[in-house]
Amino acid sequence: MAKRGRKSEVATLDIPPEKVPTHVAIIMDGNGRWAKKRGLPRLAGHRAGTENLRRVLRACVEFGVEILTIYAFSTENWGRPEEEVSGLMNILRDVIDRELNELNKEGVRLQHIGDLSRIDPDLKEKVLKAIDLTKDNDNLILNVAFNYGGRAEIIHAVQEIVRAGHSPEEITEELISHYLYTGDLPDPDLIVRTSGELRLSNFLIWQAAYAEYYFPEVYWPDFDREEFRKALLHFADRDRRYGRLK
Ligand code: FPP
Repeated sequence: MAKRGRKSEVATLDIPPEKVPTHVAIIMDGNGRWAKKRGLPRLAGHRAGTENLRRVLRACVEFGVEILTIYAFSTENWGRPEEEVSGLMNILRDVIDRELNELNKEGVRLQHIGDLSRIDPDLKEKVLKAIDLTKDNDNLILNVAFNYGGRAEIIHAVQEIVRAGHSPEEITEELISHYLYTGDLPDPDLIVRTSGELRLSNFLIWQAAYAEYYFPEVYWPDFDREEFRKALLHFADRDRRYGRLK
């Protein structure tokens, strides 16, 4: 991975630096269909999707995107066959075992959103160690949504707010945002869902209030640098008004 592509250096994109999203969030959909098309098991699709992450991480650094949030395992994914669930857990384990040093060298800061309490204690420990190891890196934040659900996140935030003893008058948008798993990270500017599905599927439902959406037809393993570049070009064309007039 090259040194971070600061927003002033995004010549390959050919768009003004201020039009590059700071925070991109991706629903990596279509791994299963990608595998099926090739007569492979679904897990082969998830593995190909994991490989693709490297390309997209590199593209983020190249184009000056500062935060990438990926939807790796949802609270609803527990309902998939046990083989697929444990396969996805193993992918997370392998990614940490095999890629952590490289990610750390590249200045990637790993973060997690979701509930780690249902995850195997050894895997939870690995995730927490990886977060700690990379906490001072500042090239790119890779925020992994794992056992994540937007509604569960809001319930958790409300519980924490009540626990902390806040009065009704203290409840503001900023306070709720602060108590979400995403904490003080800025909201996503651009949400991408690959594979042509047009749903948010419980992903960042609070934070997505003013995000721009982009739905490419390609399956996640095929969402390469060029597809990512196209997504950023589409984003640059959007007119973000936040409910106001121009
Ligand atoms: C959706 O495709 C994808 C998932 C549920 C899992 C995504 C996970 C990865 C790409 C692995 C990366 C993980 C980590 C921990 C870094 P789908 O299976 O619903 O595809 P389909 O709709 O074609 O069946």
